[in-house]
Amino acid sequence: MSAITSLGYLGLGVKDLGAWENFATEILGLQSAASTDDGRLLLRMDEYAYRLALHRDDSDDVAYAGWEVADAAGLREVAERLRAIGVEVTQGGAEQAKLRSVTELISFKDPSGVACEAFYGPSIQFERPFHSPRAISGFVTGQQGLGHIVMAVGDMEKSLRFYLDGLGFRVSDTIDMNFGRGMQVTMVFMHCNPRHHTLALVPVPAPKHLHHIMMQVRSIDDVGSTMYLVQDRKIEIASTLGRHTNDHMLSFYLRTPSGFEIEYGWGGREVDDATWHLQKHHAPSIWGHRRPGMER
Ligand SMILES: [Fe+2]
Repeated sequence: MSAITSLGYLGLGVKDLGAWENFATEILGLQSAASTDDGRLLLRMDEYAYRLALHRDDSDDVAYAGWEVADAAGLREVAERLRAIGVEVTQGGAEQAKLRSVTELISFKDPSGVACEAFYGPSIQFERPFHSPRAISGFVTGQQGLGHIVMAVGDMEKSLRFYLDGLGFRVSDTIDMNFGRGMQVTMVFMHCNPRHHTLALVPVPAPKHLHHIMMQVRSIDDVGSTMYLVQDRKIEIASTLGRHTNDHMLSFYLRTPSGFEIEYGWGGREVDDATWHLQKHHAPSIWGHRRPGMER
């Protein structure tokens, strides 16, 4: 049965759209695709019409996640899978599909209340090639979607049922995390294409859903040059350079104007469903990824 194939787009609710535009273009190297009549700022990473849609609101959190499927049959099958586990699914109208620059979509909520959409037929603009405002080599997207997101969830069991049974994600691995002061939690990492994880869930009570968005660049030099740019511009580095145990991503984390983080990474390993076996880790990083102020 068909499942989600990638994270196609993300909607973010942000307080300071102006600060975000500068941050996204001058620091992250995303391309502004112009503001829309209703005030959204659309940001590009590749040939898609946009990958991030920024809406001005006070949430400073994820507004919606756009999960891509291959075609109309795939969309129907995902709707059936969701209804089979008791999730209410709403068919999106032509107006909403136009707003999202897709052919057709459905909408529903995850167990934490995060608005989700599944869609097929995104607007692709090879005639307007992606051009980063920075001298970076670009982003690893394509079959692997825009990157990955990590979200805090209240009920891991319900969330796993939704993402595994409902949307068809497969578990890549888990990491037992020790946050200090006796607080130990198990994070679950899931894939829906060769990207090691498109979604990871952490079972901690948090005021916001979104912890970070990972963007993968094509060259290690892009990570290095961006890290020094971030330091020069006095932007907070939330986690220093390091390499993760599970996806082997070499990355650092920077603070966005909304408070949640961006993981800027390179060199992640990929998952082949034919040979992958679920793994268990006991630390998030092979080396580095130090969080200033957190005990080691
Ligand atoms: Fe990450």
